[in-house]
Amino acid sequence: MNTQHRLPNILAISGSLRSNSSNNTVINTAAAMLAGKANVVIYDGLSRLPHFDDSKEEYAEVTRWRNLIKESDGVLICSPEYAFGVPGSLKNALDWTVSTGELVYKPLALITAATGGDKAHAALLNTFTALSTNVTEETSLLISYIRAKMNPAGEITDAGTLAAIEKVLSSLIGIIKAAE
Ligand SMILES: Cc1cc2nc3c(=O)[nH]c(=O)nc-3n(C[C@H](O)[C@H](O)[C@H](O)COP(=O)(O)O)c2cc1C
Repeated sequence: MNTQHRLPNILAISGSLRSNSSNNTVINTAAAMLAGKANVVIYDGLSRLPHFDDSKEEYAEVTRWRNLIKESDGVLICSPEYAFGVPGSLKNALDWTVSTGELVYKPLALITAATGGDKAHAALLNTFTALSTNVTEETSLLISYIRAKMNPAGEITDAGTLAAIEKVLSSLIGIIKAAE
């Protein structure tokens, strides 16, 4: 998709379904940072995706999810770590792309925001290798102690974290532009 004369389309997905999610905050912060630089669509269907199966049945939400990835120039995933692993709903969404390949070579940024988060971060990077996504060191960021980096209003207040998010996003845009 040529983005020479238009803003790139970025699909953003939070791996958390919690109403008070810190990863939703990270996604919203990133979307605000990308204003004027990209068109951001935040995927809202994670909880509606059926559990992965390999039947031939067509599920509307799966088709919508796959099409949103296809229509995007790049993907941003923000994920917590639950019980030393990747949230099941996010892994399920990724599993739906294995046979159809929407994420293959897709420029992708991963931000893992959790208390620790290193295990989910490593597991997701492994999954992205399996899916052949275009994720790099510059487009991956682990934010540990996320709650301590936010104020009671749920805004990220830590300057270093905000700068690191900006850097990941500009690297993602750079990779999208370079891929043209
Ligand atoms: C069910 C559950 C399990 C958790 N397990 C871990 C864990 O294994 N490692 C970790 O670093 N944080 C863990 N946490 C803390 C979360 O990473 C932290 O609360 C983070 O803010 C959750 O992201 P969210 O607010 O976007 O859902 C867990 C939180 C919940 C709710």
